[in-house]
Amino acid sequence: MPEKLLEIKNLKQYFNVGKPNMVKAVDGVTFDIYKGETLGLVGESGCGKSTTGRTIIRLYDATEGEVLFKGENVHGKKSPKELKKFNRKMQMIFQDPYASLNPRMTVADIIAEGIDIHGLAKNKQERMQRVYELLETVGLNKEHANRYPHEFSGGQRQRIGIARALAVEPEFIIADEPISALDVSIQAQVVNLLKKLQREKGLTYLFIAHDLSMVKYISDRIGVMYFGKLVELAPANELYKNPMHPYTKSLLSAIPLPDPETERTRRRIPYDPRVHNYSDDEQLKMREISPGHFVYCSEKEFAQYKAQIKK
Ligand SMILES: Nc1ncnc2c1ncn2[C@@H]1O[C@H](COP(=O)(O)OP(=O)(O)OP(=O)(O)O)[C@@H](O)[C@H]1O
Ligand SMILES: [Mg+2]
Repeated sequence: MPEKLLEIKNLKQYFNVGKPNMVKAVDGVTFDIYKGETLGLVGESGCGKSTTGRTIIRLYDATEGEVLFKGENVHGKKSPKELKKFNRKMQMIFQDPYASLNPRMTVADIIAEGIDIHGLAKNKQERMQRVYELLETVGLNKEHANRYPHEFSGGQRQRIGIARALAVEPEFIIADEPISALDVSIQAQVVNLLKKLQREKGLTYLFIAHDLSMVKYISDRIGVMYFGKLVELAPANELYKNPMHPYTKSLLSAIPLPDPETERTRRRIPYDPRVHNYSDDEQLKMREISPGHFVYCSEKEFAQYKAQIKK
């Protein structure tokens, strides 16, 4: 069995947006993230992907639920020292490399921020040495250190964001749509950089994405979210081959096909949550329909899905 790096248990994040309204951005999700894997998280805009990531990493306090990092509860009472330790282990890369880099700081200071906070360099010289190494690691160079973010292209800025995340030697990185704001021609380069870094450093990723073909390429497993709930979780190939939840089927039917002939006959499958026709007493939860393939469903649907997948 692969080692569990993170265990997310019944995580909830409700936002109070003026009583009595409550946005249930994340509404009880449970999943594990294994050491060294890339777990892709997909779903339409507003389904709660970013909020899930931000809550895991503690940018928000969870409304309910637990996040365990190597068996240790990340949320709950923590001393400043313990919090600092977790902050170092878990880093985030953001979608918008323009907004996430302080325009008034040099690249060196941006990258070294975490080094300074965590006291990872003994002196100025060592600090700059680390910055130079990090620039090289992400495909930039020494000469870039004293420049400002506006002097760089989108792809280069994202590399700076990656260097900043790597500076504290994290084990887990949440990449929240790290390539969506980039030119298509640059996207593959950044994805390949992330993959290379993962191989070299044994990093674990939660990769949040819109682009379903890119997420298939980068992910070992993929989770599908719908309205704050995780509705399906499976190895990447399995999910594309045997999507079971009707929402997953709908989502996958939206991917354009490379072959123009088949693309012309592609049909979008709409999803209407009423198809489930759940009664009040039915217990809904993630159930394992084949090894490693989980679907959020009732007992009755569980039997149907299992029969379908055998065929
Ligand atoms: N700070 C907040 N306060 C109130 N509501 C919020 C807050 N952040 C997110 N929401 C709401 O929570 C829901 C989930 O938002 P979230 O940003 O997590 O979705 P997402 O899946 O990341 O969407 P996208 O694909 O557009 O990035 C949405 O309804 C959003 O409006
Ligand atoms: Mg988002």
